[in-house]
Amino acid sequence: MPNIKSFQDVLEKEFSYATDKYAINFLKEKTKDFVKLMSYYRCAMMEIETKFNVLNEEFSLEHDRNPISSIKTRLKSVESILGKLERKSLPNSIESIEDNLNDIAGIRVICPFPDDVYILAEALLKQDDITLIEKKDYIANPKSNGYRSLHLIVSIPIFLKEEKRIMKVEIQLRTIAMDFWATLEHRLKYKKDYVFTPEMEEELKECAFMSAELDKKMDNLRKITEK
Ligand code: GTP
Ligand code: MG
Repeated sequence: MPNIKSFQDVLEKEFSYATDKYAINFLKEKTKDFVKLMSYYRCAMMEIETKFNVLNEEFSLEHDRNPISSIKTRLKSVESILGKLERKSLPNSIESIEDNLNDIAGIRVICPFPDDVYILAEALLKQDDITLIEKKDYIANPKSNGYRSLHLIVSIPIFLKEEKRIMKVEIQLRTIAMDFWATLEHRLKYKKDYVFTPEMEEELKECAFMSAELDKKMDNLRKITEK
């Protein structure tokens, strides 16, 4: 998790030499607003994580196994936020972040079997405080490089002392096999010091296909054991 507090410290230190009190106060206020917004996103992420934990608990009582293998949460770093705003030629402001970026708060739910992904997604979306903003089913329709996962952008209210805020959260649901592929693909691709050849792309795609086969085979075995 990025240390937002340290971002505030850095800015305050950086501008401590400035003599323009108006500029300093303006900057301090903006930084405070940013830190507050990040904190709201963290709260929304906690709400969604709890909802998944509740579903996991209920399912495990009924079926004697967990549909969730692990959950990871992450708040987008300051550098990534600024980079994305710049890449998309969007204004650099608190309002612009809230309006235009859907993936500030991210939660990844990793499941043993593909069915678990859909059971959890459906159960979450049925809840009356959750609004679906966007759904991308890269399991039914994998990306051309072989990437598979179910992506949801949802909004959820968080209840503060004086107000209710509606926050957006990006949810990625995938199986252990999908996560294995995506994690390693990301690691391979983001080492920028060599060129990824078309042959290597094909090899990676083949690995994605193998991971999908693995999911199918494991799922068949599960179905037999659960009969
Ligand atoms: P971003 O602007 O990057 O957020 O993409 P997008 O708005 O088109 O969203 P999309 O739902 O396609 O992807 C969002 C996230 O899914 C990324 O930030 C990654 O975490 C993950 N993702 C998407 N495609 C890939 C992929 O090909 N490989 C891996 N490893 N992860 C991917
Ligand atoms: Mg993203």
